Amino acid sequence: MANVVVIGTQWGDEGKGKVVDLLTERAEYVVRFQGGNNAGHTLVVDGRQFIFHLIPSGILHPGKVCMIGNGVVLDPGVLIQEMDKLDAANIPVTPESLAISRYTHVIMPYHRALDEARESRKGSTKIGTTGRGIGPCYEDKVCRSGIRMHDLLDPARFRERLDANLEEKNFMLKHYFGSAPLDGNAIADEYLAYGQRLAPYATNVSEVLQKADRDGRNILFEGAQGTHLDIDHGTYPFVTSSNTVAGNACCGSGIGPTRIHKVIGVVKAYTTRVGGGPFPCELLDETGRQIQKVGGEFGATTGRPRRCGWLDMVVVNSSIRLNGLSGLVITKLDVLTGIPTLKIAVRYKCGAQEVGSVPPELKALEACDPIYEELPGWEESIRQVRRFSDLPENTRRYLEAIEDMASIPLHLVSVGPGRDETIILQNPFD
Ligand code: IMP
Repeated sequence: MANVVVIGTQWGDEGKGKVVDLLTERAEYVVRFQGGNNAGHTLVVDGRQFIFHLIPSGILHPGKVCMIGNGVVLDPGVLIQEMDKLDAANIPVTPESLAISRYTHVIMPYHRALDEARESRKGSTKIGTTGRGIGPCYEDKVCRSGIRMHDLLDPARFRERLDANLEEKNFMLKHYFGSAPLDGNAIADEYLAYGQRLAPYATNVSEVLQKADRDGRNILFEGAQGTHLDIDHGTYPFVTSSNTVAGNACCGSGIGPTRIHKVIGVVKAYTTRVGGGPFPCELLDETGRQIQKVGGEFGATTGRPRRCGWLDMVVVNSSIRLNGLSGLVITKLDVLTGIPTLKIAVRYKCGAQEVGSVPPELKALEACDPIYEELPGWEESIRQVRRFSDLPENTRRYLEAIEDMASIPLHLVSVGPGRDETIILQNPFD
């Protein structure tokens, strides 16, 4: 039995969805513990494409229990849309297959309105948020005025909290941002209906996880975004509003740290970033455009093109430290096929100094230039390869270089979007 956390090691969009989907075969419970519908997983199963923002991708496996932990911020309208889409595809979502923590904070219409109003006011200093209300919802959680899942199930209490919040939010929207105020009656009707629909799914996730753990079940914790978007450890202020590192799997679901056995980091074979913020290895040339096109690097949530660059082991090694990673998964390796020479950043030159981890301050990071190691590329298609030893020599050298620089083992290598297009070196549940 093992409880495993899967984390993105870069700035999100590392291909965690496919990895979680694969590992779910060995897990009975799949838990999301932070973020909200700012995340997006695109999965291809039997040629069918699925995009999820909230429901763990484990829902595609019959008999598994998917959980939304207290650390998530939940937009109930979006969740219900996902449930309906799955129902229409003959993948029923039932209280046996999906559980929501009663203590999950709810994204309200004023959170979305404030997210957008704030970003448009920022002009050139904007973070490039997904506009889903994530930051404002976490703000209310921390300032103790948030509305939680269990509040939706109690109409009188909900109305009281809504009215108290709305008074302040409408003042800000109207008088500070010059936007339209929101109507409390309309919000109450909409959200109480969501509460009724979601009531059968609301539970104490922490207690369910304790029982599962005691019964010897395998639990998989699914991180969203990436380590360098972490509110504390990321490239602040160009970050998301939650802790994306592995430690938050415990806080965001209600399980203790001694119950986590492995932490796996997902590394895309190159680097991407959506939205603003520093990106030392960014490629603004033809190679960057080729990677963007071949890798389909357009956001699953917003459709925005992702900025692309070389693999940055300074970023990955910082993630190994911040998450205590026990192993790595490499994704989208096939996208690099045909590039004659590949580069991997091994250190940064920051003024007179050379550093091996990401400087925590924005100004210092902006002044850094990557120091690259060059490796020969490969021409052969690798999508049909299922064994490490069958990969072209230069592909193996690229992977061995990563493993060597990381000093932790590789578990899986993804060579295409399909579930089967994977080389399994070592299953983390073994
Ligand atoms: P927010 O999470 O919507 O507040 O956005 C904050 C920053 O995190 C922006 O740069 C977003 O583009 C980025 N971000 C949020 N979620 C994801 C994700 O799932 N993948 C990649 N970037 C993300």
